[in-house]
Amino acid sequence: MAGMAEKGTVKETIQIFARVKPTREETSKVYSVNNDEAAGASVEFVVPKDLGDGYVNNKLENYKFRFRRVFDQTAGQEEIFETIAQPVADRVLAGYNGTIFAYGQTNSGKTFTITGGARRYGDRGIIPRTLSYLYQHIIQDSTMVYTTHISYLEIYNNVCYDLLDRQLEACRLEDLPTVTIMHDSEQNIQLRNLSIQQSANEEEALNLLFLGDTHRMTAETLLNKASTRSHCIFTVYLCGRQPGSATVRRSKLHLVDLAGSERVNKMALGGQLLTEAKYINVSLHYLEQVIISLSESRAHIPYRNSLMTSVLRDSLGGNCMTTMISTISVDKANLKESMSTCRFAQRVALIKNEAVLNEEEDPVLLIARLKRENQSLRDELAMVTGEPRQEQLTQDEIQKLEVQVKDFLDDTDPEATLALGTDLQKIHRCFALLKTIVSGLRQQLNIIQEKLGCANGTGNELTPLSAAATAPDFIPSNRAVRGILISEKEETEKTRDQDTTAQLNVNGGPVRAPNVRRCPVALGLKLRKMED
Ligand SMILES: Nc1ncnc2c1ncn2[C@@H]1O[C@H](COP(=O)(O)OP(=O)(O)OP(=O)(O)O)[C@@H](O)[C@H]1O
Ligand SMILES: [Mg+2]
Repeated sequence: MAGMAEKGTVKETIQIFARVKPTREETSKVYSVNNDEAAGASVEFVVPKDLGDGYVNNKLENYKFRFRRVFDQTAGQEEIFETIAQPVADRVLAGYNGTIFAYGQTNSGKTFTITGGARRYGDRGIIPRTLSYLYQHIIQDSTMVYTTHISYLEIYNNVCYDLLDRQLEACRLEDLPTVTIMHDSEQNIQLRNLSIQQSANEEEALNLLFLGDTHRMTAETLLNKASTRSHCIFTVYLCGRQPGSATVRRSKLHLVDLAGSERVNKMALGGQLLTEAKYINVSLHYLEQVIISLSESRAHIPYRNSLMTSVLRDSLGGNCMTTMISTISVDKANLKESMSTCRFAQRVALIKNEAVLNEEEDPVLLIARLKRENQSLRDELAMVTGEPRQEQLTQDEIQKLEVQVKDFLDDTDPEATLALGTDLQKIHRCFALLKTIVSGLRQQLNIIQEKLGCANGTGNELTPLSAAATAPDFIPSNRAVRGILISEKEETEKTRDQDTTAQLNVNGGPVRAPNVRRCPVALGLKLRKMED
């Protein structure tokens, strides 16, 4: 049974269930179902000694087979889903691989159980119900981000076909792309040419199921009007991760409808049906060989003998939680096959699988996360060491710096500082801004100097800084700078006035109009007024 070996690993035998197909025959004396919890579930056959159909029973009349649970004729599709498929779907959502396969003779209800019946909506089987369950969970679970893909593989007459090929509208089987199996160095199989289609929601997934089913190989046989003549593996690939995390969980769910075992003479087969039956029986024989080898823990397991066992390698004794549904018919004519199905199931129940939590770091997401971390560490390091960063300043950063410089210049507090951290690029940028301001001031100064020179005709030059006070439009809100400039300017003017008076007195000539000499000071005063 189930047991956690090490963290993330579940060792578990393959779970076996049985489902009895409804029949109109009186069968109450032929078999009985017991689902007693204490004693364990079982189905028991009572085989009369005089049973026809060539079956002679010399020794035993009662055959009892144990199962995890036996579903009798009245069991509905929902009950089957809830008991068998839902727990598997839950584990697939948790990151484990899962397989559910139906095994039984032809016409015993495998396709009805796995895919469902077409007559009523309530007849839908495990695949559509599981898809609905998975997508409901995916929509509701806000803690995880999932992506889902689907493939549908058919193995017919020992050739693999891709049932989801969209190129062909009404196609024959031989037109479908064939899929080949490759083994890598670790003996994992790769299915070449099998399309794996993304399906974002339940509707898309169901469309893929219907597309595949229209391509499936079916035929009318004596026992089943729509006998599926191939093994089909419908696979859901789930990839889930928490938002922002680089750890992803990838799991696969195989839902397998095997072709039915059939007795060639009983079916009166010929031609193509006979060829199909032979291939079906051979592949089921190889499946049995694999099951026997696994149940007896043999050193060599002959997976490679058939395509079906190669594809299902992980499901049988590997990294997977596997469940088998034995479909049985209790019509008297089918008892022998039903018992052989049950016997096969008993062997299957001995197989131990070791399912591993398929969790790994996604390299692409991991690189993105490491890049982010790297950048933040670089920033931190640059803060500590003052090392320059490599990237250019962004437009946004430049604009913020301009505002910062303007606020700094506007600040009347002589202790005001420009908080730039250790980022040399920002420091350089601020110096460049200040330089632009100063050179602008100088230009203004030159213009004013020229004008003043013309007006007083002295040709005397002002110091560059004092000239800035005459340029009120240049940095109108820069009180601090202008305050300094004005004081200096007034000082200069005072000195110049004194020099000029002295000069006039010496020369004894007419005193020049005072408004001319006061002009720079008047400008300074005007400037101060504007500031106020
Ligand atoms: N539990 C059930 N309830 C009602 N009808 C069922 C049930 N099981 C099977 N049937 C009906 O029996 C017929 C044969 O079933 P199905 O096609 O599923 O058999 P099968 O095992 O897939 O056979 P094959 O191996 O030939 O493909 C179908 O018409 C199906 O609808
Ligand atoms: Mg079928």
